[in-house]
Amino acid sequence: MCGIIGIIGKAPVTPLLVDALKRLEYRGYDSAGVATLINGHIDRRRAEGKLANLEAKLAGEPLAGTIGIGHTRWATHGKPSERNAHPIATDRVAVVHNGIIENFQELKDELVAEGRRFDSDTDTEVVAQLLTSYLERQLSPEQAMEKAMGRFKGAFALVALFAGRHDILIGARRGSSLAVGYGEGAMYIGTDALALAPFTDRVAYLEEGDWAVLRDTDCLFYQGVTQVTRTAKHTGLSSTLVGKGNHPHFMLKEICEQPTVLGDTMQQYLDPSRRVRLPALSIDWKNVSRLTMTACGTANFACQIAKYWFEKLARLPVDTEIASEMGSRKPPLSKGSVCVAVSQSGETADTIRAIKYAKQEGLKVVSVVNVPESQIARLSDVVLLTVAGPEIAVASTKAFTTQLLVLLSAAIDAGRARGTLSEEDERALTLALIELPRKVSEVIDAQEQFKALGALELLAKAKCALYLGRDYQYLIAMEGALKLKELTYISAEGYAGGEMKHGPIALVDSDLPVFVLAPSGPSFDEMVSNFEQVKARGGQVILLTDARGASRLANESTACCITLPDVHPDVAPILYAVAVQLIAYHTALSMGRDIDQPRNLAKSVSVA
Ligand code: F6R
Repeated sequence: MCGIIGIIGKAPVTPLLVDALKRLEYRGYDSAGVATLINGHIDRRRAEGKLANLEAKLAGEPLAGTIGIGHTRWATHGKPSERNAHPIATDRVAVVHNGIIENFQELKDELVAEGRRFDSDTDTEVVAQLLTSYLERQLSPEQAMEKAMGRFKGAFALVALFAGRHDILIGARRGSSLAVGYGEGAMYIGTDALALAPFTDRVAYLEEGDWAVLRDTDCLFYQGVTQVTRTAKHTGLSSTLVGKGNHPHFMLKEICEQPTVLGDTMQQYLDPSRRVRLPALSIDWKNVSRLTMTACGTANFACQIAKYWFEKLARLPVDTEIASEMGSRKPPLSKGSVCVAVSQSGETADTIRAIKYAKQEGLKVVSVVNVPESQIARLSDVVLLTVAGPEIAVASTKAFTTQLLVLLSAAIDAGRARGTLSEEDERALTLALIELPRKVSEVIDAQEQFKALGALELLAKAKCALYLGRDYQYLIAMEGALKLKELTYISAEGYAGGEMKHGPIALVDSDLPVFVLAPSGPSFDEMVSNFEQVKARGGQVILLTDARGASRLANESTACCITLPDVHPDVAPILYAVAVQLIAYHTALSMGRDIDQPRNLAKSVSVA
């Protein structure tokens, strides 16, 4: 979602701001803008659509200045347009904002009654107008920000640039993240360490409720009127990490990184005797009666697969709750249960709300996150890190498979502790996990079969698609359908094979592509029945199976058969996840879609 950058230094700032906005593109946006101070006056350029439009505008009307702010906006209040693009400004202040000011209408009514005229449809404008109102009453920028913070309801991060003040930028956060970067003779403030990566790797994070005054050599942090200390740390992120390398898209790069990041993540969860073990976990699995797992989107499917693992391997009952539902309907949570939250970004507002509810109900929170400094990591009692590295493409790939790996490791750890997993089964599973990166490489190396799928006429003209699977593969069917719809805008549904006859079979005709996920194993024969039912109604089957499955169905005609390596049934969902990612990628590629930034989507969904 919205990306923020602010820079105060000695060099011309506009190219640096635009450069940083490019690194924030991955978050998803529909307009962009920058503002600087020139001889004390605020000047700005804004454009609807991609950053290229802003760059074109800047080429025609360059913007000087050595202090400035920039923004990529994902519309919440007011449609994507130049008028609603940030920075939102008055003649006294320019503001960039991520999040939602929930009480904006009340504040707007008050400010309009004061005689202020609003120029945009955004909630952000109340921030600019309220600050202006305070400045006109002779408050300093610092006093104005401190007072304004007390008036806003909702979650937000914002940065303000003040007319006549070449020496300061003021940032503030509640809910959404904001990081300060320490450079040589220049200071930076931005949404995350990625935005700041090429400028500096020394970063301090604003804590909940902080506001901060940035000068060109330092930054002072406050909670209310009290000055507080926030320590800068080295992030280890560098701009080289966030390039596409030789790949045409971040998504393909991230798919191809999976063997490496699965291996790196595995290392964290294997002890010297090569047994799966969670590091210093302050959870006694024997005393846990239930797990409540919560997340959004793809991470929610990771929870649902983990439910199957925990229930099978550790005989531990699991409830899964979509985070937005958990946060709003507030279901009863049983004492003795532990909340497990899963998130790549660690900044997803719905997941944060669900975690806060679980904590309020007295539950311990274990989180599986990819960003160690994220809010979710900081809110959790125990953090299990995925070592996926930055995930830039909007569609989650390597974060998902590493989440699965961590969750399966946790289920093995729990199964051993609860005495429900035999040593022999544990050994077989661990071996399968150790072999997983190699098998994922085999899937990626056999990409020709996915490219052939991309060329299928059937998919190019499909209006909808069905994914079928049983057991773990039912959930990979759901994930496959989500990936396809995100990337191609083809409506797709994932169903449990057994449910097909209870409704979705009505969709089957000769134009319907049906992905049948059928590794050989306990559910294979039942999946063959689904396969036959689809074919009997003229449906076009795209079969995903292994060599044994393929040979058993060798005499059956399919639109396409994708053969994957043999794999332990409990590890198979991780391998088949990679296959459905490649299906979505190559289909989207052949349709000419915007793969890394599909329309309407944001990477880090920081509004509830
Ligand atoms: C889908 C996708 C989203 C995210 C969801 C949660 O490809 O990426 O569904 O999984 O928005 O995001 P995180 O994991 O950052 O909490």
